[in-house]
Order: sequence, then C-alpha cells, then structure tokens
Amino acid sequence: MMIVANWKAYVEDLKKAKSLFALSKRLVRTQDISIVLAPPAPLLGALSSGNSSRIAFSAQDVSASTGGPQTGESVAQTFASVKATYAIVGHSERRAIGESEAAIAAKIAHAIAHGLTPILCVGESERDADGRYLSFIRQQVSSAISSLTLKERQKVIIAYEPIWAINKSTAAAIQSTDLREMMLYLRKILSEFLPGSGALRIPILYGGSVDAANIRELAGGGGVDGFLVGHASVDPRAFRDLVKALA
Ligand code: PGA
Repeated sequence: MMIVANWKAYVEDLKKAKSLFALSKRLVRTQDISIVLAPPAPLLGALSSGNSSRIAFSAQDVSASTGGPQTGESVAQTFASVKATYAIVGHSERRAIGESEAAIAAKIAHAIAHGLTPILCVGESERDADGRYLSFIRQQVSSAISSLTLKERQKVIIAYEPIWAINKSTAAAIQSTDLREMMLYLRKILSEFLPGSGALRIPILYGGSVDAANIRELAGGGGVDGFLVGHASVDPRAFRDLVKALA
C-alpha cells in the first residue's frame, strides 16, 4: 500500500516538517508500506537532500511551463533536481482557483519528461442520480492523458478524490462499496487508453477524509492501491494511527 501525505499548506516551518519526516521514517522501518511525502515546495529540498530512507518525495503541483520568465513558478526539473520523484497534478484545490484541463495535461507531460511520476487527481463535486458525475470523471482522465504516448500513460498514478469528501470527518468519507464501484469504473476508463492488461497496472489511490477510523475498511473493501491523505497526515498521532491501522 502506498500512502501519499499531502501536507498542503498545513506545515509552515522546517521544524514541524522534520518531525513528521522522522515519524514517517520510523513507520516504514517497522511496516511494509510505502510513504510519499508532499511538503510545501520551499521545504522539500531541505528534507530530501541526503535522504537515504525508503521515504519518497512529491511536489504538490508543478508548473505548466517549462521555465524562463515565469515569476513564482516551480518547474518539474527543479523538483527533480531536489530528488522529488512524484508530482501531484490537478488537485481539486488547484482546479478551484482556475487550473485548466490544458494546463493539467501540460503538467503531466512535463512531470513525466523530467522523471517525476504524476499523481493525477480526479473527482466530482457532487453525485447525481443520472450518473453525470461518471462522464465528468471520464472527461477529466481523458483530457489529462489522451495526448500522452502509450509508454507515458503507463507512468501515471490516478488519485480519485471526490470533492464532497475532502477535508471533512470520517463520516463524510466514501463508503467502501461505493469506492469499489468507482475503482472498477476507473479501470474501465483506463482500459480505453491502455490496451491489454496495461490498465490493471496503473495504481489508483483514494483521497478524501481518510483517517485511522476508516482506512482499513477502505483498503480491504475498496480495491485501492493506496491513499492520498491530507489533514490526517500532518497530525503526528493521527498519521501514526492511520498507518498502524493498515498493519
Ligand atoms: P483530506 O485531503 O484528507 O484532508 O480530506 C485529501 C486531499 O485533498 O488530498
């Protein structure tokens, strides 16, 4: 199982970042789990330099540009140079402030070109009885990966994050039967873009109010390959309990 800890803007200083990193290192020493930390960009290099543990690092976002006169942008090359190996792309909190599908497709392509594994976030804001949310999700996947080559598509990780479940409590997270259904649907969508068994090899994560109280049930019944965890990943006790609940 893979846990991606999306620290968002919760971790403001290096001291807190280092103690969460130390906790993650302890957890992977005693448990067969992979942990990817996604710290705020200015803290990433300070944690990853000299890292010899099994912890990997992810950008929370990468620029849609390839560099040059782009004040404030951080490009995929820069994250790769400080040893990030993943990049979250298309998170709903970025889409909410105007990130376009074209920008997301460009970000995915740049991430792959510079050796980062993109974690493409998709998810509907609400569910409707007619199933329009299903075609919405298909469209999000399609616009992000259809311009990639077959080889590039194989490098993408999908994170299904329904917006209605993000940053809530355990009770608001998805139920495992609904999650399993969505996993089957996502595999079906992926099979349109990856022939043969290719679609089965793409890791699919779930994100949205995952914590120690629901992770085991979602892992067992949901058919997922891992989790993208936000607020529970920055509270040391909550994160430790969540990881231990998977043991
Ligand atoms: P949450 O966030 O765990 O705080 O709901 C998940 C995410 O947005 O990646």
